[in-house]
Amino acid sequence: MGILLLLFYQTTWWTLIGCCQRNKPANWILHKPPLPISFGTHHSKAMLLIYPRGVRIIVHTANLIHVDWNNKSQGLWMQDFPLKDQNNLSEECGFENDLIDYLSTLKWPEFSANLPAHGNFKINPSFFKKFNFSSAAVRLIASVPGYHTGSSLKKWGHMKLRTVLQECTFEKGFKKSPLVYQFSSLGSLDEKWMAELSSSMSSGFSEDKTPLGIGEPLIVWPTVEDVRCSLEGYAAGNAIPSPQKNVDKDFLKKYWAKWKASHTGRSRAMPHIKTFARYNGQKLAWFLLTSANLSKAAWGALQKNNSQLMIRSYELGVLILPSAKRHGCGFSCTSNIVPSEIKSGSTETSQIQKTKLVTLTWHGSSDAGASSEVVYLPVPYELPPQRYSSEDVPWSWDKRYTKKDVYGQVWPRHFQLYAFQDS
Ligand SMILES: *[C@@H]1O[C@H](CO)[C@@H](O)[C@H](O)[C@H]1NC(C)=O
Ligand SMILES: *[C@@H]1O[C@H](CO)[C@@H](O)[C@H](O)[C@H]1NC(C)=O
Ligand SMILES: *[C@@H]1O[C@H](CO)[C@@H](O)[C@H](O)[C@H]1NC(C)=O
Ligand SMILES: *[C@@H]1O[C@H](CO)[C@@H](O)[C@H](O)[C@H]1NC(C)=O
Ligand SMILES: *[C@@H]1O[C@H](CO)[C@@H](O)[C@H](O)[C@H]1NC(C)=O
Repeated sequence: MGILLLLFYQTTWWTLIGCCQRNKPANWILHKPPLPISFGTHHSKAMLLIYPRGVRIIVHTANLIHVDWNNKSQGLWMQDFPLKDQNNLSEECGFENDLIDYLSTLKWPEFSANLPAHGNFKINPSFFKKFNFSSAAVRLIASVPGYHTGSSLKKWGHMKLRTVLQECTFEKGFKKSPLVYQFSSLGSLDEKWMAELSSSMSSGFSEDKTPLGIGEPLIVWPTVEDVRCSLEGYAAGNAIPSPQKNVDKDFLKKYWAKWKASHTGRSRAMPHIKTFARYNGQKLAWFLLTSANLSKAAWGALQKNNSQLMIRSYELGVLILPSAKRHGCGFSCTSNIVPSEIKSGSTETSQIQKTKLVTLTWHGSSDAGASSEVVYLPVPYELPPQRYSSEDVPWSWDKRYTKKDVYGQVWPRHFQLYAFQDS
């Protein structure tokens, strides 16, 4: 079976090739997306796999290095989408537009490929119009570098999240309910920007048509003790690259909450996953899995009396929303069941009411009703997050820690750690 693989990674990918093989494989094309603004990175992590009968989209948080896939907590979302009915390629949906808009900003040189079932074709962003994304129960929330104004203001970063959430209706229980921000690197923040972000994260309406209202965020962030006792010891702190000057700000103290993940067995696997969510007990209004850190570079900062959003980096995330659709349509690019068989063999899905998003520890009650599909999301950490106690110290990577870790090491270690600087 022919598969064409499009990978989206940061410089780590180059390091990987550089250290393992002197030259890239002949059939690989490397492209660096434009970075017009200083201190930006291409931080998105995704794979688009083109199969004879569809495309598999994967958005995740791990770099292509061993430690990321073995000793850390990461997240991965994927869904397969079939080809469209070829005489109606113009039928589009939110997900398709999100994807093509994002791919268009990467400006890769158009190249040709040949695959059974597709023949000779050019891989450009509009190639992806061939696929039917109507069953997507997520929206893509991407960031791309630039000074975004006018209609572009709402396309990227936290303003995109704000715009998508504004079109959604949530259960009444989410009015003023809290937010959680969880990530692996902290930018240089201030209270004004935190308010700007929480205003986007808090948008959306309740069933009674009134706005949900601002939610109080907590920041889930490992303590020094968590890193010291983690699977990797202090070395895990290499991928939690936040300096003291960003971490030790007084106004941040009220936000700190613990990375506690015993129910998923991940307390000692340090987070490289990045998630943002709004919750009420074990119920989730929405859940975002993303490459984005908590930084202005990633999410964007409003300028010029809120008429311009400045973003430095490329980021990519999936926003999981309660949806009127069944999550996934049962289509697979790799199993032999064809979609029509699934369709005729299943009960009519149009009866499904909104899905209900819950954590793994939610204990179902019958108020869900038979017509509501419950989707358990593998949120790795405990909700609600536990606040830091007076002994807890948030991790920053440029301090000295002399208490020995699980490998008998102190921090910083005096030998070369990793050759990469990703976060
Ligand atoms: C896309 O798939 C949906 C079912 O998921 C179907 O109703 C629709 O007709 C399809 N559209 C095209 C253009 O193939
Ligand atoms: C193509 O899609 C449009 C928009 O969904 C729909 O109105 C139209 O009937 C479809 N045409 C065919 C030939 O299926
Ligand atoms: C994550 O955020 C930090 C702080 O802004 C930044 O230094 C780091 O480069 C970001 N990670 C990436 C790789 O974008
Ligand atoms: C990662 O975990 C494995 C056990 O799963 C351990 O053997 C290994 O030393 C760890 N690697 C690092 C870099 O900490
Ligand atoms: C800022 O924008 C608001 C409306 O969005 C407007 O009422 C106000 O006059 C603007 N302020 C300045 C200084 O331009």
